[in-house]
Amino acid sequence: MRKTIFTALALCLLTIGASAQVKVTVRDNAKDQPVIPAEIYGQFSEHLGRCIYDGIWVGEDSSIPNINGYRKDLVEALRTLKVPVLRWPGGCFADEYHWMDGVGAKEGRPRMINSNWGGTVEDNSFGTHEFMNLCELIGTEPYLSGNVGSGSVEELAKWVEYITAKDGTMADMRKANGREEPWKLKYLGVGNESWGCGGNMTAEFYSDQYRRYATYCRNFDGNVLYKVASGASDYDYNWTRVLMKNVGRQMRGLSLHYYTVLDWNHKGSATLFDRDSYYDILAKSVEIDEVLTNHEAIMDAFDPQKRVDLLLDEWGTWYDVEPGTNPGHLYQQNTMRDAMVAAFSLGIFHRHTARLKMANIAQIVNVLQAMILTKGDKIVLTPTYHIFRMYNVHQDATFIPVEYDCDKIVSPSGRITPSLSVTASRDKDGKVHVSLANAKLDKEQKVTLSFENLGSGSVQGEILTGAITDYNDFDNPDKVSPKAFTAFKKSGKTITVTLPAASIVTLAL
Ligand code: AHR
Repeated sequence: MRKTIFTALALCLLTIGASAQVKVTVRDNAKDQPVIPAEIYGQFSEHLGRCIYDGIWVGEDSSIPNINGYRKDLVEALRTLKVPVLRWPGGCFADEYHWMDGVGAKEGRPRMINSNWGGTVEDNSFGTHEFMNLCELIGTEPYLSGNVGSGSVEELAKWVEYITAKDGTMADMRKANGREEPWKLKYLGVGNESWGCGGNMTAEFYSDQYRRYATYCRNFDGNVLYKVASGASDYDYNWTRVLMKNVGRQMRGLSLHYYTVLDWNHKGSATLFDRDSYYDILAKSVEIDEVLTNHEAIMDAFDPQKRVDLLLDEWGTWYDVEPGTNPGHLYQQNTMRDAMVAAFSLGIFHRHTARLKMANIAQIVNVLQAMILTKGDKIVLTPTYHIFRMYNVHQDATFIPVEYDCDKIVSPSGRITPSLSVTASRDKDGKVHVSLANAKLDKEQKVTLSFENLGSGSVQGEILTGAITDYNDFDNPDKVSPKAFTAFKKSGKTITVTLPAASIVTLAL
């Protein structure tokens, strides 16, 4: 309907509303507000392109500085980022992955062809131990995706036992492979995209498969699994409906994937784009708000007590690969446009946490909307990384409702985007953080934040801004990087902020 109305406007970009000044009411006295789960800031890593090899893992003998084989620069960057949860080994790769190939002496590990991603030969040198130890090293919760598509119930059940049991044949094998104590494993995905690369199943068939697999994935020695069913993509509401009906409370979480792509046949360049394309991509990314609302409404109908969580375990922008790189490796640059998508998306996720308990951006390094890019011994932190770092103050903080009415932008494809994103929270120490993003490319926005209860303390600000096509590369790694921000004025219970065009700010109060 919305698309029809705006077809006639397709060639021109419109702004609805004319407010040069936006008034935001910050309800910092509101009671009983939810805590923003840290897992909303989750990450995803797959055996795809240079995510695992080169990106995370270089091996102990590499000339690239490493900690037991993991890139040192990456480990440090991820610690700063605060990664609450990391999903692995896929993605589509997960449903062809046989975990036993990735444990034991490295020389004996079989090689396999990564048929999903460019036919690259995978030598299995990064396996269960390497992944679980990485999670310990960076202080993150592991989230394993189990093989349902081409695996067996026994294989998945034994993986859980290998990782979490204190005693028994699987535990003995783990100990012989160098790990005495079991690891803790909370999140277990039962398949991935089972409607597609994970087996091309119907929702009805997958529901039965899920129940069967989940039955035999046991809790050993005090470890309690949080089992996640493979969920819908985008607008496939039927998948969610069938899963809620047929599986219900046998799952703790139901996943959802949503990528920002306008046309899968012409995804467009990550760096060479015009303003129309920018507004289109941003508008498509904020459509996740409506998509979440629709899936949540279906879940509410079956589960009003909200016992099953919604986990957006893949999301982000997906463009054409960088020229000259393997099309199956999904390596793309990352600009201020991606930073804007990240800021608006995180702001939306904060409002959905009654049902949405996790979101994993795709992917952590060298693939799709990555936090980090690597080349040899060089590393680049992307604009998206900087937003995740500037916004990580909201992890585990109490949500503060905000109310405002801002200009809307009608994109060439007829989608409507708010021109401003504002989100706020109070952390465990009582500190309030407000994050704001101005999507307009050519106009600053003056935003007056009115608090109910603003103390006399000081305010600090940080800003990420630049031309919308700006990005960081290996010759110029800091072109887009956060700076101190001082364009605000505090007076009584209000703070007036002047947000430059295309900027994202976090204030700490
Ligand atoms: O993230 C890349 C791929 O996108 C994943 O492997 C798959 O789950 C999704 O289609």
